[in-house]
Amino acid sequence: MKFLHTLRFQVTILLMIAMIGISIISVASHITYQTIKEMTSEELQPSVVFRHTSGEQKDPKEESALRNAIAEELFNAQKGVTPLWVILVIGGYVTLIFVCASFVAIVVGNMIARPLSILGRAIDSVDPRDVIPMLKEDGIYEDRETIKLINKLSEKVKLAMESRMRLVAAAGHDLRTPLTRMRLRCEFIEDDKQRSIWMRDVDELTNIANDAITLVKEEVNPEGKAKLRLDDIVKETVQDLQIIGHDIKLVRSVPCEVFGKALSLKRALSNLMVNAATHGLGAQVAILVEQDQAVILIVDNGPGIPANMIDRAFEPFFRANIARQKHSAGAGLGLAIVKEIITAHSGTVTLANRSSKGLIQRVTLPLAG
Ligand SMILES: Nc1ncnc2c1ncn2[C@@H]1O[C@H](COP(=O)(O)OP(=O)(O)OP(=O)(O)O)[C@@H](O)[C@H]1O
Ligand SMILES: [Mg+2]
Repeated sequence: MKFLHTLRFQVTILLMIAMIGISIISVASHITYQTIKEMTSEELQPSVVFRHTSGEQKDPKEESALRNAIAEELFNAQKGVTPLWVILVIGGYVTLIFVCASFVAIVVGNMIARPLSILGRAIDSVDPRDVIPMLKEDGIYEDRETIKLINKLSEKVKLAMESRMRLVAAAGHDLRTPLTRMRLRCEFIEDDKQRSIWMRDVDELTNIANDAITLVKEEVNPEGKAKLRLDDIVKETVQDLQIIGHDIKLVRSVPCEVFGKALSLKRALSNLMVNAATHGLGAQVAILVEQDQAVILIVDNGPGIPANMIDRAFEPFFRANIARQKHSAGAGLGLAIVKEIITAHSGTVTLANRSSKGLIQRVTLPLAG
């Protein structure tokens, strides 16, 4: 029923109604004109009919009565009986009108709605990095103009995104120099407690700057996608994090291949596993295959994320428990970066609280064909 609400359908129906209306009016007026013409023509005048049917002269009274009787007879004959050919002609007219009106309405309706179809196709072809691909400028004048406008918009969006990226990268980069100076000054604070508080704040700011730069690198990373063994990437990530002391276990692994960038995927998975190991107090990791997807599950036994906040977890700088996390050095950008990377790989990442305790982080990626 969605089709009934499309512009194409509504324009087609309106055109059909308008054309059928105009055709019926013109045919009706033609028929009316013909009928009036015939009724008023000489042949139907009673006196003439009489003259034609009778050869000889009669008494004027008798002649008048006969003339009226014949005229009445003719009139009744015309009024009461509709000959078959008249029905067929009218039926033929109506069918012809309907077919022609439908044909013209469908063609014109489609032509009017074409620019919208082009726009729809352009939006459908937006890739996971939100870039509208350049469209080939062909077709009729209106099509070319629509395509030109879409290409112009796509170019502007691309430039705006690049400038935003440059700004983020520049800010992240420029922050690192004063932060290094601050860290050096912190070393000279004599009071141990004060020094560690200052150090933690400096660490947090450094992480934010580093994550901002990482995010930009992900977006402009020239590393091309290749066929990868995802189970190997997961295994390596787990091992790297175990070496630096995180409590993470790989409990299940099924061999599978995906198309992607190894470094980016490793960074995304590492962010999720570190979250489970730190916020979730220990992680269990499994990689499996479901239909045409590779699925990575990262499960922990921590506090989870309050249900009313879980939808916002992928927003930059999100913190589930600001009071509890005040002293942790996380920037709150980890999940935002994960989302960027996984979406750019045409995958999904979701979080859900477990019924018992803890969080399940689920990543899906399409299997390489
Ligand atoms: N497994 C988890 N269990 C409980 N809370 C979590 C879990 N994962 C994420 N969170 C919550 O979501 C917030 C956002 O996570 P995110 O990874 O984006 O930032 P972060 O870990 O605080 O900092 P960083 O930028 O260093 O990763 C965390 O601060 C935490 O409150
Ligand atoms: Mg994190």
